[in-house]
Amino acid sequence: MALRTIITYPHPVLRQKAEPITDFDQELITLVEDMADTMYHAPGVGLAANQIGVARQVVVVDRSAADNERSFITLINPVITAGEGSVVDDEGCLSVIECYSKVKRFQKIHVTALDIDGNVLDFDAEDRYARIIQHEVDHLLGTLFIDRLSSLKRALYKKKLKRLLQEEV
Ligand code: NI
Repeated sequence: MALRTIITYPHPVLRQKAEPITDFDQELITLVEDMADTMYHAPGVGLAANQIGVARQVVVVDRSAADNERSFITLINPVITAGEGSVVDDEGCLSVIECYSKVKRFQKIHVTALDIDGNVLDFDAEDRYARIIQHEVDHLLGTLFIDRLSSLKRALYKKKLKRLLQEEV
C-alpha cells in the first residue's frame, strides 16, 4: 500500500491527454492499488491516474456506496460510447480544491474499457455512478469539471483559488 500525492489545479499534468495502457503487468497492478488507497484515503469516490501525475488511461471508481466494504472498479482505456438523458447535480474534484458546483452530465452511459487483466468490459451505468465515470474519463482527456461551468463561475473560482493560494504562503 502506498499513498500518492494528489496533484491539484492548475498543475499542467491535469491537462495532458493520458496515453493508453498496453502492458497488463505488475506495474499496472501497483498503480491501481496505489490509486485505490489514495482515493479512499482522500476520501474520494473516483480517481484518474493523471491526478497522481501518471498520464495513463487508468481510473478507479468506488462502488461501495451500497455496502460499507471497500469495493471499486478499475477501468483501463475507458471510452464512453453512448450517452442519453441529462442530469444536473453537484460535483467536486480532489484536484480542484474548495470548489463544488452543479454540472450537467448524461443520466445514462454506455462504457467500454478493459479490466486490470486486459479483459473487455462493456456495460451501462446510470445516475451517480455514470456521473463519476464521466468525470474520470474527462480527466483522461485533460478536461476538468470546472471547464464545464459557465465562464463567470470559472472566473470566480480562479479568483478564489488565487486568494486561497496566497493565504497559504
Ligand atoms: Ni476529479
